[in-house]
Amino acid sequence: MLYAIETEGITKRFDDIIAVNDVSISVKPGELFGLLGPNGAGKTTLISMLSTMVEPTSGSAKVWGFDVKKESSQVRENIGMVFQDTTLDDRLTGRENLDLHGRLYGLDGKTRKKRIEEVLALVELAERADSIVKTYSGGMMRRLEIARGLMHHPHVLFLDEPTLGLDPQTRNHIWEYIKNLNKTEGVTIVLTTHYMEEADHLCNRIAIIDHGEIVALDTPEALKNLLGGDVIMLELDKPENIPRLRAIYKTNGCASIVSQKNNEVFITVRDGEHQIPHVLALASEAGIPISSVSLRKPTLDDVFLHHTGRAIRDRGASEIEQVGFKIRSRRK
Ligand SMILES: Nc1ncnc2c1ncn2[C@@H]1O[C@H](COP(=O)(O)OP(=O)(O)O)[C@@H](O)[C@H]1O
Ligand SMILES: [Mg+2]
Repeated sequence: MLYAIETEGITKRFDDIIAVNDVSISVKPGELFGLLGPNGAGKTTLISMLSTMVEPTSGSAKVWGFDVKKESSQVRENIGMVFQDTTLDDRLTGRENLDLHGRLYGLDGKTRKKRIEEVLALVELAERADSIVKTYSGGMMRRLEIARGLMHHPHVLFLDEPTLGLDPQTRNHIWEYIKNLNKTEGVTIVLTTHYMEEADHLCNRIAIIDHGEIVALDTPEALKNLLGGDVIMLELDKPENIPRLRAIYKTNGCASIVSQKNNEVFITVRDGEHQIPHVLALASEAGIPISSVSLRKPTLDDVFLHHTGRAIRDRGASEIEQVGFKIRSRRK
């Protein structure tokens, strides 16, 4: 098989909202593939279509060679799913949750027993396997969900915002588990996230999604390199000078791409150290005061800003986390 996942013009409309618009992507077997985009970009809708939970309005998709519309049961047999909000039964133990899942997939008793030990070991939960899930921390619950998603040996595992709402240390642990199971189990992973560090750290390739459309798709390195090697950040006293400064830089061709945020201007250039004097001289000639200058390597946030004109965090990570929390608490 050439591709683990292949979509052609897949589209989902909810009344007047186009949640996913004409997306064509392919994911190779064994890849760790990321869908990176802000809240509302269409990430969950896209993977919901791939996991046969939402029917596409138009276009098509194949998962592990099976058509999501015509061969949905074969698709389901070949995938594992970890949802954004928890679907564990917190009155049962970790082991019982895994066993239940194994039964749903028709695994016999012996196979279940063996597989439960394997997946528990993968996420390092063996010691707590017989505790009631209610007593688990958020990170442990997420690990158990990942283990559960792997119970039936899926070829493709979908992870929807796998570290949403977890503290940074727990997030780092989950990252290691995800990397490890991609390697040891050879499972193809498609994860969604609005954390650029997460996509950057984990994914072989990333599709940046905004308003239901893929705006860029490549390896994290290639996405960042496209912007040039460095980002010069200029802080202006008066943000009203920004349009004029942009125009000056554009006509002088000193910077390949310029974007802005509040009173800051980002210039992506090759060989930033040598460009700084030139960039400052142009501002000074135009009588535009610059209050500070700094130089750094491009991040995926710069990539997002470049392609969409907005920062991925414009809406604030805390707000997004609250949305995740609301969904979770409503289910209980
Ligand atoms: N069941 C639904 N009914 C109506 N609109 C929906 C539904 N699910 C998602 N949407 C809308 O589709 C868009 C994409 O949502 P979603 O796929 O959840 O984005 P993300 O996962 O990237 O945050 C949003 O505008 C959202 O409000
Ligand atoms: Mg989502």
